[in-house]
Amino acid sequence: MVNFRLGIFILCSFLVLVSGSSKKLQTLPFDEGYSQLFGHDNLMVLEDGKSVHISLDERTGAGFVSQDLYLHGYFSASIKLPADYTAGVVVAFYMSNGDMFEKSHDEIDFEFLGNIRAKNWRIQTNIYGNGSTNVGREERYGLWFDPSEDFHQYTILWTESQIIFYVDNIPIREIKRTKAMGGDFPSKPMSLYATIWDGSSWATNGGKYKVNYKYAPYVAKFSDFVLHGCAVDPIELSPKCDTAPKSAFVPTGISPDQRRKMESFRKKYLQYSYCYDRTRYNVPLSECVIDPKEADRLQGFDPVTFGGVQRHHSKRRRQRQSRREDASSE
Ligand SMILES: *[C@@H]1O[C@H](CO)[C@@H](O)[C@H](O)[C@H]1NC(C)=O
Repeated sequence: MVNFRLGIFILCSFLVLVSGSSKKLQTLPFDEGYSQLFGHDNLMVLEDGKSVHISLDERTGAGFVSQDLYLHGYFSASIKLPADYTAGVVVAFYMSNGDMFEKSHDEIDFEFLGNIRAKNWRIQTNIYGNGSTNVGREERYGLWFDPSEDFHQYTILWTESQIIFYVDNIPIREIKRTKAMGGDFPSKPMSLYATIWDGSSWATNGGKYKVNYKYAPYVAKFSDFVLHGCAVDPIELSPKCDTAPKSAFVPTGISPDQRRKMESFRKKYLQYSYCYDRTRYNVPLSECVIDPKEADRLQGFDPVTFGGVQRHHSKRRRQRQSRREDASSE
């Protein structure tokens, strides 16, 4: 009997582990984990202290940044995107250290690209390491739901050997560190950021559709903040924790069941991958495994225009500021 109970207990613990659930991870009040980055009163903390609205109007976008720098961890937020006409609007939930390392910064990005009415938002993921902004590893996806209708959970798992992006606990992308990637794999402490900004020049079909301020303000809603990582001293850049905090609720990899879900997501919803972009990469990057069927399928989507805008974090912010000035002088 005791053995039977123990067996059930072990089985349950195992199921929790492999399910990749983060439900039990503590969510932080905004003020305990984050600070406002820019945007004046376009950032609003709700009364419960656990939810934040950031908005874009003709004056400015808005954003916030984590109070701590982290080396590796599990970072998550529930996000509800603005509805209706959102072409040119970009909402980003990402990690970066661009403010500390101008020339050699790292980045891990979730970017949400607005769309014209009746067309859904698209998600883009990307990483940069050691200032390798000329080597983009972008992927874009559709979603199996309308992200402006409800809150959904978006998560970055970053370890020494891999990066996994999750949507509602389904892994959508796994990046394994390879030797050939060298410094391109993010390896220095980063902060978490969330921003909303005017990406008219590139966001929707490479800038074909601009932000239309007739529909402003565009409001992105954030909640359920999880910042579960190893915080690092910003001056010495040494970890404040001896080992990264372990939790049974932080996945350490992708279970076979999760992998099946990821593969079926990618078969259906992947719309662009740098691995198949022969315009940018004559020879695919070394980690790419090319599937001819996938190449055929991806050709059915709009080609994506990159370039024109420097993707460096702090430049992005500068650009946002000059946009703000442009907008107010019009
Ligand atoms: C990072 O980039 C610099 C020059 O851009 C290079 O000297 C250095 O070796 C790189 N570091 C890694 C870990 O690749």
